[in-house]
Amino acid sequence: MDKKEAPKSALDALVSLCKRRGFIFQSSEVYGGFAGFWDYGPLGCELKRNIKERWWRFMVRDREDVEGLDASIIMHPAIWKASGHLDTFSDPMSMCKGNCRKLMRADQIWEIFEDSPIKAALEPLVGDAGAVANWCKGKGKNVAPGLYTVQHPERLEAIFETLKTVPDVRALFILLATPAGEPEALPCPNCGGVMTEPRPFNLMFKTVVGPIDDPSNVAYLRPETAQAIFAEFPNVMVSSRQAPPFGIGQIGKSFRNEVTPRNYIFRSREFEQMELEFFIKPDEAVELLCGRVEPLTDDTDLSEPKPEWGWACWHKYWVEQRKQWLVANGLPKDSFVEYWQKPDELAHYARACVDIEYRFPFGTQELEGIAARSDFDLSRHQEHSGKSMEVFDEPLKLAVKKLSDDEKAAFRAKVVAEWQGRGKTAEAANAFIDRLFEGKYIPHVIEPSAGVDRMALALLCDAYEEQRLVDEKGKEDVRTVLHLAPAIAPVKVAVFPLVKNRPELRNLARDIFKRLQKRWNCFWDETGAIGRRYRRQDEIGTPFCVTVDFDTLEKDGTVTLRDRDSMTQERISVDDLIAKVDAAVNG
Ligand code: GAP
Repeated sequence: MDKKEAPKSALDALVSLCKRRGFIFQSSEVYGGFAGFWDYGPLGCELKRNIKERWWRFMVRDREDVEGLDASIIMHPAIWKASGHLDTFSDPMSMCKGNCRKLMRADQIWEIFEDSPIKAALEPLVGDAGAVANWCKGKGKNVAPGLYTVQHPERLEAIFETLKTVPDVRALFILLATPAGEPEALPCPNCGGVMTEPRPFNLMFKTVVGPIDDPSNVAYLRPETAQAIFAEFPNVMVSSRQAPPFGIGQIGKSFRNEVTPRNYIFRSREFEQMELEFFIKPDEAVELLCGRVEPLTDDTDLSEPKPEWGWACWHKYWVEQRKQWLVANGLPKDSFVEYWQKPDELAHYARACVDIEYRFPFGTQELEGIAARSDFDLSRHQEHSGKSMEVFDEPLKLAVKKLSDDEKAAFRAKVVAEWQGRGKTAEAANAFIDRLFEGKYIPHVIEPSAGVDRMALALLCDAYEEQRLVDEKGKEDVRTVLHLAPAIAPVKVAVFPLVKNRPELRNLARDIFKRLQKRWNCFWDETGAIGRRYRRQDEIGTPFCVTVDFDTLEKDGTVTLRDRDSMTQERISVDDLIAKVDAAVNG
């Protein structure tokens, strides 16, 4: 089957494997679970660790222009006032006024309806008024006990003719849910009752710091790692002796009190983010320094950063870097798409935002985002904290010194006009230019922001395959295999002694295992037929299996190396095996 069209049932099979083999468990399962929280088991935590390690290496350690940070999860509440989270980080929430009283995100109600038993029951009845009436008086009582026409079947007579002409199942559901003479209801996809008008619901988890449970001691679990980076920007810049363009990367837990956590680990209440805030000079500073700002075109060479780059080139550069990383870690190029947010979808301060969307079995949805956030965040923290977030750029000051008064005036007129074109005041533009002429500015930010859990889900979905195999005797079999990239796979090598009851063979295999274990996460298995042992490793995505047999012991010391994807086997020395696995894991 084409993975692009993987049905939702593919997710069910994956969820079952993840539980059975120790990747992901429902949190607090022994107490009936806890919605929106997940535990990563022995294999899941290795998988996540590998994703984080790969991100860190690519985004932070391998670059000279990015520094790392590990900030606290609970920070001064003023940070969330400055960032806007206290006032605006909310989802529209509705509650069912009917039987079930469920809370739902108002913008997800129709998405939830798509998978509901109510939709499944009503869809075949669209246009058949008699069948709808029978359903309301019969089976509907179980499937949609809160639905108005189920509770008031006398209403059916008045809408009988309209029931014949409803265009689709949504229109039918709305019609059945709306009491006579009232405006169209927003029906509850769980019980059919009517939902309340949406109201904003802040997603931040509250806690109390210190022993006194008082509103003045309220603090918040961070809903994103980004804000700590902004708050620490001056400390990191000074201590690491960096200057824009440079970035600060951070990996850590974030918490959002999601109204309807759903789609497995896709939307959780506790999750991990991998975020980079990359600080760049404002375009106006680039122009003063370089005489021009490189325009972004289809032909722009984005392989290496250049001093002439403005925000548009830097933004596209990071989009390309992120795509490169996704492919290098096992997501095929055609499994995700770039979605460029339209101007009316952008936050008011954002210049551009690209969502990288992966084709999950439940639909094409955001995997990560790359936003051009202007100087919004640092400006807000400067304003609220009273501490300067400005950078002093000596070369900029020198470049301005070389300009004549006429050149300065022309530059000022141009910038003021540009700012006014973007809806800003001449006063704000002039204040900015005054600072710029002193060599000072607040950096702008490009933010590639990714979720560890979402990446893990995408990689698992993409890797999962049920292969139909036919053996030499014509017997059919299904091989479940996770085609995870070797760098991402939780176990890199499994080592098997051919038999377990020959101590000298077993000891030799143990020695090899111990040697390999020093380098990678390895797995020892001495039980069952070799074929069964291979299958157990295929199912968890182990790229290589090594069998130590009598030839290893009695002849040349070579082992059998079996490749997960091709299932081919070769005899190889342990040294060559190490080189081969190393190349695959670090590739
Ligand atoms: N600092 C920007 C920011 O946080 P976001 O789009 O809200 O932007 C970035 O989050 C990434 O974090 C998302 O693309 C996703 O991968 C991950 N993420 C966000 N909310 C999540 C949730 N409730 N559960 C799992 N991952 C989530």
